[in-house]
This record gives sequence, C-alpha cells and structure tokens, in this order.
Amino acid sequence: MSEPGHAAFDFRDRSADFGPFSGNVWLNCAHQAPLPKVAADAARAAVDWKVQPWELTTERFSGVPARLRAALATLIDADPAEIILANSASYGLHLLANGIDWRDGDEVLCMRGDFPSDILPWLGLERLGVRVRQLEPRGAVLSADEVARAITPRTRLLCTTWVHSFSGHAIDLDAVGGVCRAHGVIFVANVSQALGARSLNVARAPVDAIVCAGWKWLCGPYATGFCWLRPELCAGLVYNQTYWLAMLTSDDLGRETLDLSLAGNVGARRYDVFGTANFFNFAPFAAAIEYLLAIGIDAVRDHDNALVDRFVAGLPRKTCDLLSPMDGPARSTLVLVSAKDRARNRDIHRRLAAAGIHVAFRAGSLRIAPHIYNTPDDIDRALAALARA
Ligand SMILES: Cc1ncc(COP(=O)(O)O)c(C=O)c1O
Repeated sequence: MSEPGHAAFDFRDRSADFGPFSGNVWLNCAHQAPLPKVAADAARAAVDWKVQPWELTTERFSGVPARLRAALATLIDADPAEIILANSASYGLHLLANGIDWRDGDEVLCMRGDFPSDILPWLGLERLGVRVRQLEPRGAVLSADEVARAITPRTRLLCTTWVHSFSGHAIDLDAVGGVCRAHGVIFVANVSQALGARSLNVARAPVDAIVCAGWKWLCGPYATGFCWLRPELCAGLVYNQTYWLAMLTSDDLGRETLDLSLAGNVGARRYDVFGTANFFNFAPFAAAIEYLLAIGIDAVRDHDNALVDRFVAGLPRKTCDLLSPMDGPARSTLVLVSAKDRARNRDIHRRLAAAGIHVAFRAGSLRIAPHIYNTPDDIDRALAALARA
C-alpha cells in the first residue's frame, strides 16, 4: 500500500492477530484496545491454571510478574528493577502524590483540561499546604515556554500528559522536560495515550517519572499499568508499603521460621500493586507487550501514522473540521474531528456506532484512534460512514 506522505511505506495487515471483529471497525484504542490473540490465549491459559490450581506452579506464580517486568523494561529501555507493576496510571500518580516529602508552600503544576487522573491526585495535597496550579494552555497543551514562565522557586513538580486525550495534541516531551530539568522541577509524564504507538527511552528522555495505563496502546487487559521512577526519586519517597511478595516468594513460606525485617533495598518493586502475581491480567499483559515488541514499536508507529495520514487526507472537509494537528510532531494517533455544526456530533457518533464504526465521543467531538490491528479498509469505511452521516 502506498500512503499519502508515506510513499514507500509497505503496509502489513495485522488484523488477523486480533479479533474476530465480526464486521465492526474498532477505532477507539484510546479508550480500550482489543486484546491480541496471543494475549487472549495467555489469559485462557491463566484461567486454566486457576481451574486446576495444581497447574499454578511456583514458577508460574513468580514467573508472570517477572516476565511482565522484563517486557516493560525492554519497552522503555529501563532496568527491570526500576519497574513498578500497577493497575492503572493513577496508581503511580498516587504513589508520587502520597510519597514525596512535601513542604508547606510547595507548588505542583498541571494543565487545566488534562485527563482527570493527572490533576485529582494532587488536589488532596492542598491540606498539606501544597499549592496546585492548573495552568491554562494558550493552545491545546502546554508549551515549554509556558512551563518556563510558570515555574517559581516554590515549584516542585509538573505533571502532564504526553498525548492529550481530549485534543489529540502531543506535548513536546523533550522541551518541557528540558525546562523542568533546568529548574530542578520533578517532571511526571502520563504516557497512557502514547506509549506503544510511540517509543520512549527513559535513559534519554528528560522525565523523572512515567505512569501508564496498560489497556490502550499497549493492548493489555483493563486494570493493568505500570510506573517508572528515576531511581533517586524512588529512593526519596516516604511511603509505607512493604508487600510480602516484594520481599519473599511463596516458597519462602515453607521455611520453619521466617525472620521478618525490612530487607535492605528491594528497589522499586516494593511499590508493586498488591496481588502482584495477578496472572489473569498480567500474563496477557506481558504477552501483549511482547507481541508489540516483536513487531517493533517504530514499526507500530509507522503503521499507525499511515492510517492517520489516510484518515486526515480523506476527511470530508466540506462537512467536517479536523481539530487535532494535521501533521508534525504534535500530531498523535488520537484524531479529533467535528461536524461543522458541532451540535450534530453526538448524533453522528450514534449513527457511526449503529453502522459498526466505533469511535469515541469526547469533549463534544469525535475521536478516532487507529492502532496496529486497523487496516486502510477500516479507515475508508469510517470515512465513508462519516460522509454519509
Ligand atoms: C491520559 C490518560 N490517563 C489515564 C487514563 C486512565 O486512567 P487511570 O489509569 O488513571 O484509571 C486515561 C483514559 O482512560 C487517559 O486518557
């Protein structure tokens, strides 16, 4: 397939790795990805272990989180010991909000209009004297200049999304992170709407913490996610969590006596979500990430970009406006469009769903989010349905 803007791009149809879609077009990955078949198989196997619990061996019980940690570490170029297994993006945000040694008068910066997960955890800190400033971006998302101007000597942390759920705009992660670094401000990036469709190397990117939901661009089950903290930040947290599975294995329980003490530095995994061996969710989550890694995240990005190119080029401009970026680094895999008459969007959303074209209705607009399982034909069907609606 030759794509607009990607003349040499050799499109590979991967839809058979997912589904069956039964005639539906799922363009709502930004809400919920479908599970790849390899991950669905892993989930079924995990159910079998529980149906016949003797199959739930110690190797499997310990192996599932270890395999997931390794896959996530490969994904972001981190040490597996720095990965915190979670059930959401909010998990990591609350760990930070509750674990940083706040001082009266500290400031947290976030972006007005960001996804609620990025704002709510900080608001509870106001009772400790922390001031939460929701910065109003001039455009759809904060620019590095706006962040630089907003920072004061009391600014301790900035939390923002990488790709904005409601506008599809990506922030300039390097520039915003660079400003934070220059001012000694902790930079927390919510990468839930980006990682998997974009790659990230935490050794190079100027981020201090990333949080990520697992069920979107990483194609994992709902209630999965992870968090990565720069080791110095992690070591400085004052947060009382000492989960036994972070210290011991189930085999250790066979010892005559257990001499329990807070073992030295067990690293980031002490903050893993409880029930860390959560094989129903974490076995398919690991399989989904391994599936994406086998394709290569840059190849996934090119695939997704080609689909976004096709959609943007084919949008019926007489009746529809493109609200998210047309091209350039701020463009993401979340494409926001609106009928010229915005009041019609809700009805159009309903009509598309009735025709088996599933997109999201967000902030009064339609959000189209294609990923690795979508095909050019999906895009053409969505465009045709949009032209008819
Ligand atoms: C940017 C962003 N963060 C997080 C989430 C999910 O929230 P959480 O992981 O906090 O439950 C979403 C969407 O559901 C999102 O768009």
